[in-house]
Amino acid sequence: MAERRPSRPLEEALRQRRVLVVCGAGGVGKTTTAAAVALQAAFWGRRVLACTIDPSRRLATSLGLTQLSEKPRRLALERLGFEARGTLHAMTLDTKRTFDALVERFAPSEAARGRILDNRFYRQVSDALAGTHEYMAMEKLLELQDDERFDLVVLDTPPTRHALDFLEAPDRLLSFLDTGILRFFLKPYFVAGRLTLRIATRTGALAFSMVDKYLGLRFLQDLSEFFLAFEGLYAGFKERAAQVFELLRDPGSGFVLVASPARLSLDEALYFHRRLVEKKMPFVGLVVNRLHPDPAAGARRGGTPPRLEPAFAEKLVAVHRDLRTLARAERRGLARLEVDTGMAPLLVPELESDVHDLRGLAEVAAAIFGTAPVKLRRRVS
Ligand SMILES: Nc1ncnc2c1ncn2[C@@H]1O[C@H](COP(=O)(O)OP(=O)(O)OP(=O)(O)O)[C@@H](O)[C@H]1O
Ligand SMILES: [Mg+2]
Repeated sequence: MAERRPSRPLEEALRQRRVLVVCGAGGVGKTTTAAAVALQAAFWGRRVLACTIDPSRRLATSLGLTQLSEKPRRLALERLGFEARGTLHAMTLDTKRTFDALVERFAPSEAARGRILDNRFYRQVSDALAGTHEYMAMEKLLELQDDERFDLVVLDTPPTRHALDFLEAPDRLLSFLDTGILRFFLKPYFVAGRLTLRIATRTGALAFSMVDKYLGLRFLQDLSEFFLAFEGLYAGFKERAAQVFELLRDPGSGFVLVASPARLSLDEALYFHRRLVEKKMPFVGLVVNRLHPDPAAGARRGGTPPRLEPAFAEKLVAVHRDLRTLARAERRGLARLEVDTGMAPLLVPELESDVHDLRGLAEVAAAIFGTAPVKLRRRVS
């Protein structure tokens, strides 16, 4: 195939940049898009690492991964029937394990490390605290982008309710660890790392008995130990977070946003785009996934219509009309998006089945980059 000049920012990013972050609200197709564009970059000759988070079991299997493949594994693209000038590695990112590794790295002593990792509260927090998973994905990115085997890392992001949660996660996590209200509340009583009778001051006793009633003494102890142990870690965390932000802002990085064609999702995409611009982060593309086909587009006029039962024909007309209304509403939303972002969205149709193998990924990539026609599903139900 003749080399084309990169015509779009996403294509330029895949050919030349070092980091691509794929964001979007839960379930819109982030993992699918991340894997598809990584595959495309390998077709174009780059040495790519696709770092996925919780891919579906079938997709993971197709990528040669088990749920716990923390190490990049190379896909034998040729053996699978794909001609690629570059290489594709894939891995799944375990955000919990990344957090542990970070604690190990920054804990001031062996004892502190053990205290944190075994702490019940840490085990809860590292799993449940809003922003932890997003933050850890960014953290991993710092490590991966130094790996000599790759010249492009494509990072999938964890499921969030809103795309923006990903960007705001580090701030939230750090401010929680820094001057979190819990810490403020607990520290005077637990500064020695143990419970003392000092909690029996009037206000303290009241607050404490309320907390104890709901959370339990043991929990409070865990919590206080957790904050004390984290004290030494905090500076290291903060420094890493600053490096992450620098990396995300670097001209060698790029953000892709994935959205569904529903109005709310497009509104959110617009807002996300605005925030990226405000934060001076490089936005390189908007993928609108699972677009419905317009049944009227490309329909041939004239010819003899098939003879149908009148009742059935009536139903068909109704389905056709509904689908057309939906497709047109989606396209109006897209037009507005294009005006507001100054960038044409990249469209991926709803495919015949979910995307669980390389062929499916190649089909998605072909839709995004317009390299081959994609068959549209025409559902009549
Ligand atoms: N264009 C498409 N046509 C048909 N199925 C699709 C399409 N895009 C994605 N899917 C399917 O939708 C499901 C969700 O996609 P995916 O896992 O990529 O979403 P996600 O944004 O990563 O979700 P999460 O937020 O949970 O991580 C998958 O089963 C995937 O195969
Ligand atoms: Mg996903």
